[in-house]
Amino acid sequence: MKKLEGRTAVITGAASGIGKGIAIAFAREGAAIVVADRVNEAQAAEVLAGIRQNDVEALFVHTDVSDEESVRSMAAQALDRFGKVDILVNNAGIFTESLIENMAIDDWDRVVNTNLRGTFLCTRALIGQMLERGDGRIINIASQLGQIGGGAAGHYSASKAGVIGLTKSLAREVSTRGVLVNAIAPGPIQTPLLDSETEEWRSGKLAELPIGRFGTVDEVTPTAVLLASAGGSYYVGQTLGPNGGDVML
Ligand SMILES: NC(=O)c1ccc[n+]([C@@H]2O[C@H](COP(=O)([O-])OP(=O)(O)OC[C@H]3O[C@@H](n4cnc5c(N)ncnc54)[C@H](O)[C@@H]3O)[C@@H](O)[C@H]2O)c1
Repeated sequence: MKKLEGRTAVITGAASGIGKGIAIAFAREGAAIVVADRVNEAQAAEVLAGIRQNDVEALFVHTDVSDEESVRSMAAQALDRFGKVDILVNNAGIFTESLIENMAIDDWDRVVNTNLRGTFLCTRALIGQMLERGDGRIINIASQLGQIGGGAAGHYSASKAGVIGLTKSLAREVSTRGVLVNAIAPGPIQTPLLDSETEEWRSGKLAELPIGRFGTVDEVTPTAVLLASAGGSYYVGQTLGPNGGDVML
């Protein structure tokens, strides 16, 4: 028996990296998938094919998670097509580097609005129907930089710390009503997001990582499958850390 048979998952930012890996891992476990990403559908062709290979349905919805109307429309299209959304993975995120002393307000706003406001907007749009059914899972992709801070990444760290705080608060609000909310805070994972880092940052990070290497998407997806499936039924408001030892709590 597949772990997510009959379930429908909305995964934001699923055209690339960690979101793409989670989408395909969920599809392998039998879930129908809504790929909600700001890229166009052609740029999401690979993930859509990867999902459909598993004989489950895939719907692409062009979405900007930081935009209220865009998120409202994404939720309506997902519900129209599938009738319910059981799992929401708030994964869409961006990273830029800047010292606070030089940071442009636009840069702050873009990062916080995508990573934190986006998580709030998508959650607000889809949690009502989960609560009505008394059944749902929300998985927020935070970052270890939300736990330990990151040099030249104050906006990113603040947004991800905010995601962790939102995860805990929401978990307190809804857990007795059948909706479980948790976060994943990955360490440095090889995706296009990490490619934007400088060589200096990469060598410094490698030197301090206890495991001595960056992680792969496939080392994050099993945690998402756990939190989305029956085996994750006693996780509430947690932040799980596939991070190579970068953070030890
Ligand atoms: N890669 C890492 O080392 C790492 C570490 C910790 C946390 N994370 C987090 O994991 C998540 C995924 O990152 P990734 O490494 O896979 O990056 P990625 O750049 O490969 O993928 C991010 C995806 O999000 C989409 N996206 C960006 N802004 C969007 C918006 N406004 N609306 C809808 N979609 C949007 C992009 O189009 C892209 O498909 C992010 O939240 C990131 O902060 C990544």
